[in-house]
Amino acid sequence: MILLAKDLRSMSGSELDTLFRGSPAGPIPVGRTRGTAILFAGSWFGRLLSVMIRVLFWKGKIFRPQSGDLKNRVGPLGWRLIRAAVSEGDSWFADGPAVILDYSQTSFLARKIRDEIRLVSPGLYLGVVYWGKRRIARFTLESDDQGEGRLAGFTKAVGVVTLATLLIGGAYVAIRLADDRPVTYALDEDHFKYGSTGGERGFGKQLGFGIPYWMWVALPELFPEYLPDGQTGVGYRAFGMIYEPDRDPRLELPIGMSMRRVQGIDRVYFNCAVCHTGTVRAAPGEPAEIVLGMPANTFDLGALAGFLGRAATDWRFRSDRMLPKIEELARLQQELTLSGDRYQPQPLDALDRAIFRYVGIALMREQLLTLTSRLAFMDMTTWGPGRVDTFNPPKALLGFPMEKAPERELVGNADLPSVWNQRWKQGMQLHWDGNNTSVDERNLSAAFGTGATPTTLDKDKVLRVAAWLWDKAQPPDFPEPFIDRELAARGKPVYQQYCWSCHGNREPPYRTEGDGGLVGTVTPIAEIGTDRARLDSYTRLLAVAQNSLYAGFPADEAHCRDRPGDLERCYPARFSHFRKTYGYANLPLDGLWLRAPYLHNGSVPTLYDLLEPAENRPEVFHIGYDVYDYQDVGFVSFGPDAERQGWRYDTRERGNGNGGHDYGTLLAPDLKEALIEYLKTF
Ligand code: HEC
Ligand code: HEC
Repeated sequence: MILLAKDLRSMSGSELDTLFRGSPAGPIPVGRTRGTAILFAGSWFGRLLSVMIRVLFWKGKIFRPQSGDLKNRVGPLGWRLIRAAVSEGDSWFADGPAVILDYSQTSFLARKIRDEIRLVSPGLYLGVVYWGKRRIARFTLESDDQGEGRLAGFTKAVGVVTLATLLIGGAYVAIRLADDRPVTYALDEDHFKYGSTGGERGFGKQLGFGIPYWMWVALPELFPEYLPDGQTGVGYRAFGMIYEPDRDPRLELPIGMSMRRVQGIDRVYFNCAVCHTGTVRAAPGEPAEIVLGMPANTFDLGALAGFLGRAATDWRFRSDRMLPKIEELARLQQELTLSGDRYQPQPLDALDRAIFRYVGIALMREQLLTLTSRLAFMDMTTWGPGRVDTFNPPKALLGFPMEKAPERELVGNADLPSVWNQRWKQGMQLHWDGNNTSVDERNLSAAFGTGATPTTLDKDKVLRVAAWLWDKAQPPDFPEPFIDRELAARGKPVYQQYCWSCHGNREPPYRTEGDGGLVGTVTPIAEIGTDRARLDSYTRLLAVAQNSLYAGFPADEAHCRDRPGDLERCYPARFSHFRKTYGYANLPLDGLWLRAPYLHNGSVPTLYDLLEPAENRPEVFHIGYDVYDYQDVGFVSFGPDAERQGWRYDTRERGNGNGGHDYGTLLAPDLKEALIEYLKTF
């Protein structure tokens, strides 16, 4: 039977192997041959691939008996390139001889390739291709004396056009995948409020991590029933996120959200300011003063997480519901004249829409569901505004089996702290339980909390925040009209006697020679006596896990000793300072007035209450309302407005205990008054 090349193309792999084994080496071919690659032998897909390869990449070989070699005809135009030595030799694949096409001495790119061919029918060779010792493909060669066929010109044109299209498309995809452009800011303050720390980048196969901008703005419009107040048109205001007065909350970002264009998609994510920027108002109806570095007193992250989780489980989280909403918002964006000084994302183009429709929206939903189900062991509705559970989420994300965790670990709700004056806090045991003495590591662990890992962390950007927090970021002064300076002066000695040893000086440096050295150390839980849930939530095992994280990213100490400026290599990317402690930290009290409610769990609304014995402190009050009480020093926590806008804090709930820290509680009323006055000046 005479076999033709097309017969071979419909054979299966094992049929081809049998044919090869049963065939002679045959004479060394001469002149021009037509080649067909055979991949996925016998499948329609393989045949399609063969045609594509012929048109685009490889058309055959030209054997040159006088020089004992061959050249391949490659590319859509059949350029004569890539030489191989031709000889008869022993086949690797089957017993006996074959014609060997050896590239090892003749070509750099193809040096690992070795072909063997045998004559399977008159004028028709079957070949196998080796890459090193591995057989990777098969091909056929037919003599092709007639030269170019009738269709050659057409095929070449198709080849050239297709290849060009592929190259341009490939370049576009490559550029798009490499796309990584944070929105940047000239001022450190704006960078703190809106700058990206890298959380939007995502790693490897995640296709980015942040929430695509257009989905972010569409979600509250699409799911108003899951908003705490059900009100559309005001973005995420219901969660206590802060929109600056000149921003349109329907389309612009609140403080604490950053934007970065990754892989051709504008994405948003949280940054430091979402938890470390708050507001204060002198009276209801007055404008809110936005204070950078203060605890985010109104922001309810637990409620926001609940919203995102509920939206993701809703069947309407799908492209045919979301895309129309996105288009509506894009039209709104065109109608409004938003400030051109700020980056405003472009509406989705046709390709973006296709990506959103077929992958983006489903992928986002999947990511949100994964995240919320991993964190489902916590009841985030127990957080309330200005509080989060700091160390239980990392446990879950590090793969701790939280369903088996002891009961006492499971509530770690902590009041958000202020982050000013970091320079003076270096070396102090901080975080509420004092579990880390390094400012860099506290920043870094926070940055990881914003979704950035060593591979995605934008070091320059985090360092810019860190540098600004180092000593430039400062708490604003307590409004002068509400301070009685004389009374405050009388409070100073009271402070020196009862508080100074643990809390240090009013101003930096907090530590001074002879102060007993207790600032920035830990007071044992038995002595301080405050609620122990947050302390117990941080475990020795977590410290071990954190300190062994990212072991592949050690800062090279020898290299870094003389090169503090080499951020790429020397910024710490792994932890070594996390420790389990057995109490709470004696922290400096800078900007104290804006840190209410007080204590690590925010269980005491005002300084006045903190100086009362525990049984006199309020049992139930409201937090998250930003009108200030200049008398008692803290936010207004009672009355109809606080109830309406705030969140009901019940000190009898797990982790919310308001006992302990009884320092100064037995002072005479006039001394307390003087002490409070003095504390206003911090
Ligand atoms: C999700 C909210 C959240 C975000 C976002 C966040 N932090 Fe924090 N941060 C906290 C909480 C909560 C604590 C207190 C942790 C504890 O001890 O329980 C804290 C503590 C800190 C501390 C230590 C404060 C002290 O004196 O004990 C620093 C410094 C800090 N954060 C810096 C940052 C930086 C820098 C970023 C951005 C890269 C950031 N944080 C992002 C919630 C956040
Ligand atoms: C023995 C050390 C010690 C002494 C003395 C001490 N404190 Fe404290 N203080 C602490 C610790 C520890 C905490 C954190 C406790 C917690 O959050 O559970 C704290 C927390 C505070 C807070 C809350 C800070 C915040 O950001 O919420 C205030 C306010 C405070 N102390 C004021 C005082 C005053 C006023 C005195 C003197 C009358 C005083 N402390 C005496 C150890 C001390």
